[in-house]
Amino acid sequence: MVDDAKNATDRRRDAANRAQSWFTDSDKRAVSTAFDERETSHLRTLAVATVYSLFKHLYGRAPKTFLDVGCGTGEGLAYARRLDPNLRTTGIDPVPQAIAAARHLNAEATLHCIDAEGLTVNLIDPPEITLIHLCLGLWSQPTRGLIAIMNTMPPESMLYIVDLNRADRRNALDAARNNAERTYLTDQYHAAYAPGELSRLLLTTSACLNRRFHAHVEANGFAGFPFGSIEQIALLNSGGFQKALRAVSRQQSRSGLPLRPLHAWIWPEP
Ligand SMILES: C[S@@+](CC[C@H](N)C(=O)[O-])C[C@H]1O[C@@H](n2cnc3c(N)ncnc32)[C@H](O)[C@@H]1O
Repeated sequence: MVDDAKNATDRRRDAANRAQSWFTDSDKRAVSTAFDERETSHLRTLAVATVYSLFKHLYGRAPKTFLDVGCGTGEGLAYARRLDPNLRTTGIDPVPQAIAAARHLNAEATLHCIDAEGLTVNLIDPPEITLIHLCLGLWSQPTRGLIAIMNTMPPESMLYIVDLNRADRRNALDAARNNAERTYLTDQYHAAYAPGELSRLLLTTSACLNRRFHAHVEANGFAGFPFGSIEQIALLNSGGFQKALRAVSRQQSRSGLPLRPLHAWIWPEP
């Protein structure tokens, strides 16, 4: 039993390391950058607009601080500042080239070249909104990383995780335009979570914390909220969200790929 759990942990770590090599090795980086720019940049924009709008809906005010975990080259941070120039933005990423590019694009942001596991409260502004976008599957120690992040969250805060859904991997490979992209996607989906696994990860993480958190994981609906829900209606009423959604529709009509990620929402219970 103990051996099975250890084997599963080792397999996940190996898959995560292989998936992460597409962001550290310079040849592979060229493939991942071209693919992500073409196929996922609109989703990142939508994720930032979504978490920003839902924070306003839940707490009745604009957020002041934004943390992008695995910020890559910093486009998500830059978009957040365009959405709200008063936001104080922070990005972390373990890849030095990514942080250098993010710094170029975000002169005012706080940036650290660390992984999520290395985050501590004294390193950053307590993040009222935190986004983990297309990144969680790459972590070799996901429970430790999530504990570190959730320990920094102030009482009025929200964490939004968007990631590949391993259950969707067969359809997803159709988006590849060549063999290198196919291998890239295969490695990413191999490291990705299925919905039940992500729910279990969040349960394990919450059990290690001395605060209670609301957490839910959903592959369907609208950013993970059911159609007709109060959250969906709040999103549709938000100008920033509407604008981001229109950009997604334009991009998807060009790429023809409806990527259907997993959504996880976490916030401290009052
Ligand atoms: C697919 S890119 C996504 C970048 C950005 N979030 C976006 O959506 O455009 C994944 C990023 O996560 C970073 N990453 C990998 N492992 C990480 C960890 N343990 N903590 C924080 N970031 C990590 C990678 O270096 C890479 O830049």
